[in-house]
Amino acid sequence: MQKNLKNLIIIEHPLVKRDLTLLRDRRTPSFQFRAILRHLAGLMAYEVTKDLKIEKIDIHTPLEKTFGYKIIEEVILVPILRAGLGMVGGFVEYLPDARVGHIGLYRDEETLKPVDYYFKFPKKLKDSLILVLDPMLATGGSASAAIAFLKNKGARNIRFVSIVASPQGVRTLNKAHPEVRIYTTALDRTLNSKGYILPGLGDAGDRIFGTGD
Ligand code: PRP
Ligand code: URA
Repeated sequence: MQKNLKNLIIIEHPLVKRDLTLLRDRRTPSFQFRAILRHLAGLMAYEVTKDLKIEKIDIHTPLEKTFGYKIIEEVILVPILRAGLGMVGGFVEYLPDARVGHIGLYRDEETLKPVDYYFKFPKKLKDSLILVLDPMLATGGSASAAIAFLKNKGARNIRFVSIVASPQGVRTLNKAHPEVRIYTTALDRTLNSKGYILPGLGDAGDRIFGTGD
C-alpha cells in the first residue's frame, strides 16, 4: 500500500479480481465490457452500502410475528458522464429506490483539466448518501470537481466509487476532499504522460461505448 493515501478502500474478492481482469484485457469487446462493468459495479455496491442506516420493523411471517429491517437512508447515485453511466445499472439492481443525478465532465486532452457540460440532480442532496460513480480516478481532477460541485449544491455525505485508481488521483482527492471515502478495486502503479492509468484498462468511455476507433 502506498504511503499517505487516506480513506481508501480497495475491495478485494476473487469475483472482483476476475471481473477486473476481463475489463483490463484489451481483447474484451464493448458488449462484454459493458456487461462486466455492470456486474462488477453490483459487487461493489454490496461493500459500499455495508453500513447503510437501517431501522427495525415489525412484520408477520405466515406463522408468527417477528421483526425485520428497512433501509432508512436515501441514496443518490451520481455517475460522471460518460463512463460513470456504465456503473449505474449494477448499483440500481441492489438499490432500486436510489435516485440518479448526472454530472457531465470531460478532460481537456491538453491540460487534463475537467470541463463541465451538464448537471441535473434530484432534490434532498443534503440529507442523502451520495455515491459518485466513475470507473477511472486518474489525475483526480474530474472527481474533485464533481464533488466540489455537489458540496456547493448542499451534499454533505459523499463517497466516490471507482474501478481503478492511481496514487496521484487518490492523493489529489484526499487533498481536495479529505473526508470523502474512496472505493476502488485496484490501486494501479502510475499515470502515463497523457494522464492514462498504468496498467489501467484504457479509455473507459471509449471501451464502454465503442468510440475508440
Ligand atoms: C475519464 C473518466 C473520468 C476522467 C478521469 O473521462 O471517466 O471521468 O477521465 O480522469 P481524471 O481523474 O484525470 O480527471 P473522460 O474525460 O475521458 O470523458 P468521457 O467519459 O466522456 O470519455
Ligand atoms: N480516463 C480513462 O478513461 N482512462 C484512464 O486511464 C484515465 C482517464
